[in-house]
Amino acid sequence: MAERNLDFDKVINRKNTDCLKYDFAVKRGMPADVLPLWVADMDFKTSSYIEDAVIERTKHGIFGYSEVGEDYFNAVKNWMKKHHNWDVDEKWLVKTPGVVFALAMSVKAYTEPGDSVLIQLPVYYPFSEVIRDNGRKVVSNDLVLSEDGRYHIDFDDFEKKIVENNIKLFFLCNPHNPVGRVWTLEELKRIGNICLEHGVTVVSDEIHNDFILKGEHHVFAGIDERFADISVTCTSASKTFNIASMMISNIFIPSEALRRKFRRQLDAAGVSQLGILGLEATRAAYEHGEEWYQAMLSYVKANVEFAREYIRDNLKNVKLMDIEGTYLIWLDFRETGLTAKELDDLIINKAKLWLDSGRIFGKVGEGFQRINVACPRTTLKEALDRIKISLEG
Ligand SMILES: Cc1ncc(COP(=O)(O)O)c(C=O)c1O
Repeated sequence: MAERNLDFDKVINRKNTDCLKYDFAVKRGMPADVLPLWVADMDFKTSSYIEDAVIERTKHGIFGYSEVGEDYFNAVKNWMKKHHNWDVDEKWLVKTPGVVFALAMSVKAYTEPGDSVLIQLPVYYPFSEVIRDNGRKVVSNDLVLSEDGRYHIDFDDFEKKIVENNIKLFFLCNPHNPVGRVWTLEELKRIGNICLEHGVTVVSDEIHNDFILKGEHHVFAGIDERFADISVTCTSASKTFNIASMMISNIFIPSEALRRKFRRQLDAAGVSQLGILGLEATRAAYEHGEEWYQAMLSYVKANVEFAREYIRDNLKNVKLMDIEGTYLIWLDFRETGLTAKELDDLIINKAKLWLDSGRIFGKVGEGFQRINVACPRTTLKEALDRIKISLEG
């Protein structure tokens, strides 16, 4: 059996498929005719091995409570070893219906109402939401944008914020959405050492770990056993294989004490067995998805290069931030002189694009827009053409 879904140029109509990206513009306050490049899923068909595995399981016709065992774990373990050089133990694994769900459970497990949780804005907005929605406070160690178009961590501020706010929980985003950083070994060691010193638990959201365009991804928990001991590592095949609606994440918690607290919250939320189709999809992805994954990653890399050249040659006052990881590019429009509100208006009402406005990632994101480039190149070009025409007009 050979992989069939390797034509990433093909434009697939996702309309009228209950698709969050394409079918909900008007409901979410956008004009009906926007081209969507916002939410982080791909406009590509997943691996045909996943399609086939789900179809096969469906034919059985019984969908009672299900659980997976050693073969599922081995598929996950082998992927982590091969792609991230990380040895995982079966007892560390807790499966959850999504990574954001795991973030919310961590807030409940490791902090008390009224406590503060540390994040690094601009960051994936559900980080702030799950903290606030659970009655905790957001404290940000804002990332600092330097002249080279790369974001950096202000470590003095990082430690100061921990001490001043009695921080017990930090959400790390690695690779970082939306700024595209893949944190270096040195940066992660500094983070880990500071967190160790001050008794801070680190929830490392590594959902984008398979999208490394430059440099190398380091699993935070894999760097040092002492880091493993204070960490919760969130992974999933959902971004890598475009199966987000399958709702399966693999969360690794080496410390027994941290794992017990986390599980207690899952029990309190009434979550036990997950959906069999998602589990089958994840297993098939990690067992048979390599060829599809490699081809998809090459295509995404080429899209980033395409965008880079296009922006350099055609969008004079727009800067593409250096991107090391994820399939989300982060564009700086501040030199256009538009206010954040005028920029949103131009993107939505003139260019007729549905992007993620930088504002939603925190105040420091104002003047930026995030574009999802995991789409056919013609779609990406259409989006960039629309920005060009709108800015010129
Ligand atoms: C950093 C990050 N974490 C989590 C998620 C979503 O995870 P899930 O759909 O498993 O809740 C996303 C999706 O864009 C993301 O970018």
